[in-house]
Amino acid sequence: MRICMIGTGYVGLVTGCGLAEFGMKVTCVDKVTEKIAMLKRGEIPIYEPGLKDLVEKNVKEGRLSFSTDIPEAIRNNLVVFLAVGTPSDDGGGADLRYLFDAVDEIARNLNGYKVIAIKSTVPVGTAKRVSRRIAGRVEGAAFDVVSNPEFLREGSAVEDFLHPDRVVIGTESEQAIAIMKDIYSPLYLIETPFVITNNETAEMIKYAANTFLAAKISYINEVANICELVGADVHVVARAMGLDGRISRKFLHPGPGFGGSCFPKDTRALYHLAREKGYDPALIGSVIRVNENQKTRMVEKVKRRVGGDLSGKVIGVLGVSFKPNTDDIRESPAIFVIQRLLDAGAKVQAFDPAALGEARKVFGDAITYAANAYEVAQGADAIVLMTEWNQFRSLDLQELKGRMKTPVFVDTRNVYDPRKMEQAGFAYEGVGR
Ligand code: UDX
Repeated sequence: MRICMIGTGYVGLVTGCGLAEFGMKVTCVDKVTEKIAMLKRGEIPIYEPGLKDLVEKNVKEGRLSFSTDIPEAIRNNLVVFLAVGTPSDDGGGADLRYLFDAVDEIARNLNGYKVIAIKSTVPVGTAKRVSRRIAGRVEGAAFDVVSNPEFLREGSAVEDFLHPDRVVIGTESEQAIAIMKDIYSPLYLIETPFVITNNETAEMIKYAANTFLAAKISYINEVANICELVGADVHVVARAMGLDGRISRKFLHPGPGFGGSCFPKDTRALYHLAREKGYDPALIGSVIRVNENQKTRMVEKVKRRVGGDLSGKVIGVLGVSFKPNTDDIRESPAIFVIQRLLDAGAKVQAFDPAALGEARKVFGDAITYAANAYEVAQGADAIVLMTEWNQFRSLDLQELKGRMKTPVFVDTRNVYDPRKMEQAGFAYEGVGR
């Protein structure tokens, strides 16, 4: 089976490479020439564990290639996946410009029956819009549009692709279903559940799943904030809650609020979509609000601990990516917190094992970039741990303290044990403990 993947961002690259690993012949295309040039040289534009090896292997074995010739790739392949970005537009909805550009390119190069599989996260109804758009441009066009959402987590995307919890295929065409099943056939061997449904339901599944997970995080963040007021320990609360099989322990870690390229954007998009249709989604609206407040709350914690005024204070920030094992800083709570600290007149020195390059694009010379965690502590009035990288889990506390002006440690990820930190001489604060 021959596949064309339009968009070599995070989702397109992992999916394209994963499908090649399944034995398909995949051409990944992008209009950004530098990105394709990098990939052709064997360089990976993003940091994702395991991806480089998998790309190398599949290129070497002749199943994976990269190109900027999108028209040719469309003409040469039976299945065209769309994995272009769908960022938030100004009103909080999804901006479908890149998607429709790619769709128009498909329409111009439709040289026979094709399956168009939408991987990008798109508002419910988009697959049908895509169908109408192509049908309106090409008379007698033979094609099917399949909604095939992804559920990849950054940092473990390769693993998630190869061992998914489920595969969702949205289309009413028997022919397209057969082709999609064929593409994912290696997953049958490991008994992965397949959910086959119509386009709208498949599109909704993605938003409903992400918004639910976001709600779980906002819920436990609110519980954590209440715990702080009543002297309860949110870790024990979450653990005991999670032991109830109906709840489960996953996604009950309190923190500085969720970030990344999916949850913030998808919760906003579903909220927006519902309101457009005349329904006020109060619960989803609250999830969004709780998350905004949570980020602000972290800044307040630091401010309180350094005596109520951040101006002129040196704050060391550990971690800038939105979660560990990625260099992605999109909607990272750390970026929000750093900006607020700067606005309040603080001096910020930050370290991250992978994302400092990205941080530099945002902050330039406005902050200092440290070479490691200990440099972050140098002369600091407080340290705030924003991302739970493994490197930050067993720091030499005495070394850290020795370098600080005042030993204040705000741990927004609850990595450290409050008692041990106090014994080590820190004024320590976590979330909800
Ligand atoms: C997410 C979904 O998990 C994935 O299925 C979807 O397709 C894309 O969005 P990702 O954004 O890569 O994946 O990261 P995820 O691990 O889900 O974390 C998202 C954010 O929530 C991070 O900022 C993380 O720190 C935060 N989080 C997660 C918590 O604060 N607490 C938790 O218990 C879990």
